[in-house]
Amino acid sequence: MSASAAKRYRTETRLVHAGTLRSSFGETSEALFLTQGYVYDTALSAERRFKNEEPGYQYSRFSNPTVTMFETRMAALEGAQAARATATGMAAVTTALMGQLRAGDHVVAAKALFGSCRYVVEDHCPRYGIASTLVDGTDLDQWRNAVRPNTKTFFLESPTNPTLEVIDIKAVAEIAHAAGATLVVDNVFSTPLYQRPLELGADCVVYSATKHIDGQGRCLGGVILASEDFIQTHIHTLIRQTGPSLSPFNAWVLLKGLETLAVRVQRQTDTAATVAVALAEHPKVARLIYPGRPDHPQAEVARRQMRAGSTLVAFEIKGGKAAAFRFQDALKLVKISNNLGDAKSLITHPATTTHQRLTPAARAELGITDGLVRLSCGLEHPDDLVEDLVTALAVG
Ligand SMILES: Cc1ncc(COP(=O)(O)O)c(C=O)c1O
Repeated sequence: MSASAAKRYRTETRLVHAGTLRSSFGETSEALFLTQGYVYDTALSAERRFKNEEPGYQYSRFSNPTVTMFETRMAALEGAQAARATATGMAAVTTALMGQLRAGDHVVAAKALFGSCRYVVEDHCPRYGIASTLVDGTDLDQWRNAVRPNTKTFFLESPTNPTLEVIDIKAVAEIAHAAGATLVVDNVFSTPLYQRPLELGADCVVYSATKHIDGQGRCLGGVILASEDFIQTHIHTLIRQTGPSLSPFNAWVLLKGLETLAVRVQRQTDTAATVAVALAEHPKVARLIYPGRPDHPQAEVARRQMRAGSTLVAFEIKGGKAAAFRFQDALKLVKISNNLGDAKSLITHPATTTHQRLTPAARAELGITDGLVRLSCGLEHPDDLVEDLVTALAVG
């Protein structure tokens, strides 16, 4: 089903059918085209394909039918004109930023970013003569004041990793556009089901497909979604020539992941809300952050731009690092892992893992205390999960 045909159907239907390219064998499940290259009937045909005078595949670094199916399904889901898949979420972030930026340009980003994303903005960009400014993403004046004549793009994630801050995407997009800049949004934590940054004014959306899109902890992947013009101008040639491309095998796994995305994420979000209720008033929990709750610091923005909460809950355990470690070690069902979006519930201690690269002062500024843990809710029964967490808190 083409992306335009998919438009008349609802999200769940698009997740199952959009982008399917059925071969002459009539297979029900999407075919896995595990091939590096493609053969041409004649030398003239090869020449014409390289000149873009004839449609068809040339080499799987450029494109591959299974990868095309994944890209088309993602574009239909997000309501984007075009998509390009990448080997990892970080390849998607790096390509979306570096594809737009040149030496002498300036990028503004929210400082509450996943550790590697912050590395790209703070350390990688300046190595290539691109200046960067980090701002408090929830303070719109800081975005406005950071603008320089050479500002080319803004970058943010919302909700943020790991403190689940919610940034007003529509307002930041307006500031970016008034400055002649674009806005790139990393939408991993909300998923395409619950937040549509392009509809809110963003120019480009990126995902780590490694997370909810696979959803079963199997493979890495990423995707960049934008207008056809944005993809052609900034992304297409960079991916084709430098090769952060997605493998067809991983594209196939991710396609199967998309079929069940809606049921999984809905169930995981409901579970996260249940966990938040169970832990919010717990005597060993100093602070609990969940975007679906009225006590969330940006509850009003979350209500406006997110259709539901999140599959993640962050909470601070009284007693700092030692108590947080004792709590994690006492968990039986929930596994210790820096990953998220999996069918298995996973717990992370950001200060010593995903955000350990930051200085203690930078962590403090972001609210990443030594007692903070981030829980990614899986598909277990919510009561089993709550029991596991409450039992471990009694030990910690
Ligand atoms: C918000 C966010 N963006 C990007 C990434 C990077 O994705 P990947 O690990 O697939 O490169 C991650 C997690 O790893 C993440 O949590």
